[in-house]
Order: sequence, then C-alpha cells, then structure tokens
Amino acid sequence: MKNTIEKIVSLCKRRGFIYQSSDIYGGFSAVYDYGPLGVELKNNISKLWWENMTLLNENIVGLDSGILMHPKIWEASGHIDAFNDPLVDCKQCKSRYRADEISEVFQSIDWKTIKCPNCGATDCFTEPRQFNLMFKTSVGPIAESGTEAYLRPETAQGIYVNYLNVQGAMRLKIPFGIAQIGKAFRNEIIARNFIFRTREFEQMEMQYFVKPDADNDAMKHWKETRFQFYTKYLYLNKSKIRFHKHGDGELAHYAKEAWDIEYEFPFGWSEIEGIHNRTDYDLIRHQEFSGKNLLYFDQVNNERFLPYIIETSAGLNRMLLTVLADSYWEDEENNRLVMKLHPRLAPIKAVICPLTKKDGLPEKARQIMNMLKHNFKIIYDQQGSIGKRYYRQDEAGTPFGITVDHQSLQDETVTIRYRDSQKQDRLSINQIKPLIEDSIK
Ligand code: GAP
Repeated sequence: MKNTIEKIVSLCKRRGFIYQSSDIYGGFSAVYDYGPLGVELKNNISKLWWENMTLLNENIVGLDSGILMHPKIWEASGHIDAFNDPLVDCKQCKSRYRADEISEVFQSIDWKTIKCPNCGATDCFTEPRQFNLMFKTSVGPIAESGTEAYLRPETAQGIYVNYLNVQGAMRLKIPFGIAQIGKAFRNEIIARNFIFRTREFEQMEMQYFVKPDADNDAMKHWKETRFQFYTKYLYLNKSKIRFHKHGDGELAHYAKEAWDIEYEFPFGWSEIEGIHNRTDYDLIRHQEFSGKNLLYFDQVNNERFLPYIIETSAGLNRMLLTVLADSYWEDEENNRLVMKLHPRLAPIKAVICPLTKKDGLPEKARQIMNMLKHNFKIIYDQQGSIGKRYYRQDEAGTPFGITVDHQSLQDETVTIRYRDSQKQDRLSINQIKPLIEDSIK
C-alpha cells in the first residue's frame, strides 16, 4: 500500500504539477521542476501571499534583491560560522544522517547504541561534525581566491542591506515592512519528503522594522496575523495547524524568540513558516562589517537608532505541499481522486467540454472559452468520454466543468458540474463569468 505522500507524488507527476529534476538522467537529488499545473498553483499561492503583505498593509513594500551578493554579507550575517548542521556517517554502509534528527528519532545521545536505519549496524557512526549548508560558487572567468561567492541561503539579507535605500525612497516611517519572494539554496544533508526539504527552494519573507522596545508587541501581532493567513486565506483545515515555540537549543543564531507554524503532514507535524524576533542582530553586524552607518532617523522624536526586526519566513514550495496534502481526497464512494483545491488556488478554474466533436458544439465551446480566457485560466477538452474528462480535472483540482450540448445552441445555456459534489446545474452562458468570479473572491 502506498502512503499518502507517495500517492500525491504520483498524482503530481501524472497531472503535471511536479517532476523530479533531470528525470531522464536518473534524477537530481532534492531538486524539483514545476509543470504546467504546478507553476499555476505556485503563482496563485505566491500572489496570495504578496497581496496579503503589500496590498493589505500600506506600510509594507516589496523588493527583489540578487541571489548573489557580496560574500562579506554572509560573514556578517553569521552564516559562514554558524549555518551548520551536525552530520554523522555510518562507517559500514556510508549512509549520512543529520546527527540531531537521528538521535531524536532514537531518543538517545549515545552513538554506540543507535542503529543505522539503512544497514542496521550499531557502534558504526563517526563523531558528529559540522557541515556548512551554503553552496559556494565563483564569480568571474577564473576560480581563484577573492572570486568566491555564495548562493543565498535566505532572502532576508538582501532586505537588510537595502533597508535604508527602500526606507528613503518610499519615505517610510517606523514601523514598516519589506517583503520579498525569491529563490534560496541550502546544501541539505538529507533532503526528503518530496518538496518539503529541497536544496533549491523559494522563500516568501517579510522583515518588519520596529522600535527596539516595540518588538514583543510586533511579534504578537505577526504571530496572529500569519496564523490567520493559513486558515482564512489558504483555507487549511484548522485542526491541522499549530504553533511550536523554539526552546533554547533550537533557536537560530540570530533569534531572541522564534515560533514555527506547523502543519500535520502525512509524515507528521512539521514547520511551514518561522516567525522570528531577530532583534538588531543583523543590522549591528552589517554596520560593523560594511563600515556604513545603518541608523534609522526618527524625525518625530529626533533620535537615531537601529530598528529591531520581526521576520515572517515561509517556504513557497512547502506551502504548496501543504495545500496539496490538505486538498488530497480519495473519494472512495465514487472511485476517484480529487484535489479539493479552493477555486482561488486551483491552477485551472474551469474545463470547457463540447459534448461531441460535431454539430457545431466545438465552435460554441471555443466561443465560450474565448469569452472567459481573458479573466481566468480555462482549458478546452474534447478528448474521451465526458466522465473521463471530468475525472481528469478532479485530479487537477479544477472546480468547474462546463459542458456544451445541443441545447446550448438553441437557448445559450450550458451544464455546469461542481467538482466536489459532482452536482450539475443548467446555467445561462452569461452566468458563468460571475459564478467563477464569486468563487475566487
Ligand atoms: N530567514 C529565516 C529563515 O530562513 P528558516 O526557518 O531557516 O528561516 C524559513 O526557513 C522557511 O523556509 C521554513 O519555514 C521553510 O518553509 C522554508 N525552508 C527552509 N529550508 C527549506 C528547504 N531546504 N526546502 C524547502 N523549504 C525550506
């Protein structure tokens, strides 16, 4: 019996959501490619996040900074010294593990007693050693010292080093936020659970700049706001999300306080977003390493200070996996698989099907398609029985099926079929657009 994640993986491949990278070469570990439906779903999720941040909050503005940055940034941020995972190797079978995860699974810190999950040997592990997660590359035509650069492991630093540029240009007054969506890279020791932990991924981060004594209130505000995003805007099942507070041993090197929002995946409760009080740690360090004054000038009180930063940091791919896991439905009664995606998130909003390939039905169906395609992602399908066409779209998460039949030619009506209930209604063609519009509001 396949587990749910395996079933989601095969649905994703079959329907064109997600493929293993470099598949025809045997795959490239921990990197995934997004197919036609995956890219639409990813865009819908990132648009929702972006609008939530930059439209609903007039004091939050956007930025798109480079993936490659001055290498000193990573010294200042602490990533060169502290962005490490401890790893151990099994001397028998050469499998590699994250020391913290494997000791947690076995609830032991005595390496001699822990069995290798791959070969079953005991007393087989090397001493834990630190492994830096950043990818190195070289900049310029020759690789020599001084040309070394890193692929960013988080988007946050691009915001910190630009914060005064943005604040000045937009004449922002504290508190204000800067939001960014972009790729990040981590050489994860163990990448697993499909797109949950990968080496290349996208982050959606917002850095909120506040007065140093306003950090606790801002933290409270963003914790609540971000939690609500998952229930109110992403429509996740409420019983499957919760907070987890970081204990002393878990806190990242920059954080004074940190909370994860977790989702109950088929493989257990796991982090989907982190909310961190990063204090003035990053700005102090950039001031020191760059030699530039990064003080904010508060005109009202005529004072200068380094703001504290509350960060909300979510992974776009992980959010997408959450949405897929939350929507996956095996409708046993009707022997079908359904992605119960909210219409707002669904990659395709409706499929238009002429009942037959003749009698002018395809032409009428195309006419309706042309009418709707400026507003929504719609597809046309005339292949196979109508039942098969609907079932294909159930797996794709398409909320509406529109069938054009002979009656349509006479009275300008169509059949509309609702994905989840499979109920069907007769509707005038003019009612289709408002119906879809209402569903995605
Ligand atoms: N700037 C803070 C920061 O990067 P993080 O907790 O390391 O914090 C934030 O990462 C979010 O980025 C995570 O909650 C997760 O959603 C996503 N993320 C981190 N590493 C990832 C990986 N290897 N693959 C996919 N998503 C990842």
